[in-house]
Amino acid sequence: MRRLKGAMSSMTLRIFSLLAVLIAFGAAAWAQDKKVDLGEKEYRANCAVCHAIDGKALTAPYREFLKIAPVDLTVLAKKNNGVFPINRVYEVIDGRAAVQAHGPREMPVWGTEYSVKAAEHYIDAPYDPEAYVRTRILLLVDYLYRIQQK
Ligand code: HEC
Repeated sequence: MRRLKGAMSSMTLRIFSLLAVLIAFGAAAWAQDKKVDLGEKEYRANCAVCHAIDGKALTAPYREFLKIAPVDLTVLAKKNNGVFPINRVYEVIDGRAAVQAHGPREMPVWGTEYSVKAAEHYIDAPYDPEAYVRTRILLLVDYLYRIQQK
């Protein structure tokens, strides 16, 4: 009887460890399914109001409040002879240099917005605000690159 009990518990242990492994694998697979696209997330949070979820700007909720119509962001490469204008896109999103040259514009100046967010994010910790700003803008540039129409 004692031996049977021992055998049972080692069997139960095995079943439990097998279950644990299965759950771990399941969780890993699930996590991979739900892999977050940081560029898309950033875009949806900050840009979709004016450029629409699909980037084409036509269905953007803010469209009617803008003096200058927002731009279709899926044809940036098409309009540039098939080459995605990576530097210009980066600079337009950052905006700080452009605003110095041309004054205020309708499109928000994300370079400034993200520096403010960096300061909120790293309260009391040493940080490099420019690295934070660059990362956020590069995520967006990468996302826009991926939604270009062929
Ligand atoms: C408040 C509305 C608004 C928001 C929010 C906004 N944009 Fe814009 N965007 C515009 C408008 C309007 C233009 C047209 C040009 C201008 O105003 O300078 C534009 C132009 C652009 C251009 C230039 C396209 C070209 O052909 O040169 C890019 C790139 C761009 N936006 C990307 C973004 C990204 C990325 C975000 C999010 C981080 C964003 N925009 C958020 C309104 C907005």
